[in-house]
Amino acid sequence: MRAGPAAAAAVLTLVLIAAASLSHAQTAGDPVGSGDAEAGDLDFQTQCVMCHAPEGGGVGPSLTGVVGRKAGSAPGFAYSAALKASGVVWTDKTLNAWITDPQAFIPGAAMPFKLDDAKMRADIIAYLGTQK
Ligand code: HEC
Repeated sequence: MRAGPAAAAAVLTLVLIAAASLSHAQTAGDPVGSGDAEAGDLDFQTQCVMCHAPEGGGVGPSLTGVVGRKAGSAPGFAYSAALKASGVVWTDKTLNAWITDPQAFIPGAAMPFKLDDAKMRADIIAYLGTQK
């Protein structure tokens, strides 16, 4: 029993190591956070702007200032109840999950579009970060 505290410390260390490698594994190979905003500008014009006009009034809400914004909070846009109630805040990570598969990320959301290309997603998200 005298080894108790040492054993507990060893277990704690292992848990910390496991947690650190898990968070690393989640970002390994994921280009989000290292996108090219200039390429993302062009991609946004071909993939998103037809629904997301910066000045509003489109099929989707304006995405100007979307990074850091609470989901479903652009004034004057009629969001789905699911998006408004989601409690999501838009960050690089939540945007990536959303654009990958909106209905998987927020069941009941109404965006009829998905983007499979991870590099394009990362670039568009980098671009959105410049649209304050
Ligand atoms: C065919 C039209 C369409 C396309 C194309 C489209 N969207 Fe959307 N988007 C929508 C609609 C509609 C909503 C509102 C969804 C809801 O209310 O559930 C939305 C919502 C969003 C939101 C949530 C905004 C907020 O204020 O909470 C983000 C972020 C978003 N879209 C990003 C994108 C990006 C980035 C692209 C391009 C890769 C894209 N969308 C392409 C229609 C579209």
